[in-house]
Amino acid sequence: MQEYQSTEAAIGASRWVNEDPAKGKFDVRRTAFTAQLVEVEMRKVFERSWLYVGHESEIPNKNDFIARRVVNRPVIMTRAASGEIKVLLNTCSHRGAEVCREAKGNARLFICPYHAWTFQNDGVLRGASIPEGASPGFDRSTMGLKSPARMEAYRGLVFISFDSGVPDLPTYFGNAKQYLDMILDQGEVGTEIVQGSHEYSIDANWKLLVENSIDGYHAASTHDRYFSYLRRNDGAIDFDGSRISRGLDLGDGHALMTGQARFARPVAQWSPMMGEPAKSQVEAVYARLVERFGSERANLIAKHTRNLFIFPNLIINDVQAVTVRTFYPVRHDRMSVNSWALGPKNEPAELRKLRLDNYLTFLGPGGFATPDDVELLESCQRGFANREAEWSDISRGMGNPAQDALGEEQMRAFWRRWAQLMDDGGVDVTSGGQV
Ligand code: FES
Ligand code: FE
Repeated sequence: MQEYQSTEAAIGASRWVNEDPAKGKFDVRRTAFTAQLVEVEMRKVFERSWLYVGHESEIPNKNDFIARRVVNRPVIMTRAASGEIKVLLNTCSHRGAEVCREAKGNARLFICPYHAWTFQNDGVLRGASIPEGASPGFDRSTMGLKSPARMEAYRGLVFISFDSGVPDLPTYFGNAKQYLDMILDQGEVGTEIVQGSHEYSIDANWKLLVENSIDGYHAASTHDRYFSYLRRNDGAIDFDGSRISRGLDLGDGHALMTGQARFARPVAQWSPMMGEPAKSQVEAVYARLVERFGSERANLIAKHTRNLFIFPNLIINDVQAVTVRTFYPVRHDRMSVNSWALGPKNEPAELRKLRLDNYLTFLGPGGFATPDDVELLESCQRGFANREAEWSDISRGMGNPAQDALGEEQMRAFWRRWAQLMDDGGVDVTSGGQV
């Protein structure tokens, strides 16, 4: 287990965060949730970071594509005839229409529905309709679809950045990489996104979901219904001794909660709730992990959970199942959320079924967890209308180097980085008014 780490970042006189280690106080100014900051956050936070787009397994064949929004920007991820993956900005070079209006498919060409310009799936403009009459200045070679400044993939996960100066992905991940590897190591020949996705909206500021995704403190109170369901159905795992958990600041805004899993995991912890027939299969998966990685790492991979937050808007919940979830603000008080289930390639069908059952039961938008979380995030946002209550308290566990995941160091990691980026450049947007 990684030792507790603490970023002693000097927040100093941040307009957003009031950190006083001596007093054990860490407050976030609530205008961070209520001011109309989205445009500023786009420029200062999202467009200076790596942003998750999708997984290579979603476009396995030549000419496959997916189209989705990444921080509200329509993009297309394609696999060209050469097999190379590209991300294109889904806006026609003529007058702006989205050239791809399907969420997924297989196409060599995208034909803009507005004036029918035709683009190859590598972005090159193949031709403009009714070419006679084009002006002398029209140069087809300069009118292809644009791409973001950077695109990189890490073990199947594809990211883009609008900042040409960001470091390569492994460097960007920093300390988070070892935990990401631990999740991706579940797949001996790689991991894949299970077909389909969940898309939903929450009437709350996006940063409330960052907090919630790495908030161990709320689990027992908010999700009591789920834990009693597990206890009633032989789903809970008993431990010898106390449960060890940690909340870690991984640096640069990345954060982690990790601890011993209290429930069944297809990789690879059995509970009676999974049924007797699955027991030998789960044990075989575990034995193979021990062969591949040794018993200590196999134990960490299989029997510990990880809620891994990659700054600024990717959370990978490696708990009952694995979800990959991104979210972005559409307004200061509304966010759009996308989530997918991730699993090992070639997973036996029975375990895949258990994985999806677990995913839907707890993590899906109709599961035990998400509706309760959504309700409470919207409740927080409504509560913020009371401007007299100016600060949110995120102090829990401060000064305790052995704090567990019920502490809030992992949230402070996010806030320090967010505040640092937002403070950079000197636009005063703390007043709650228009920027
Ligand atoms: Fe696409 Fe005119 S906007 S062809
Ligand atoms: Fe929750």
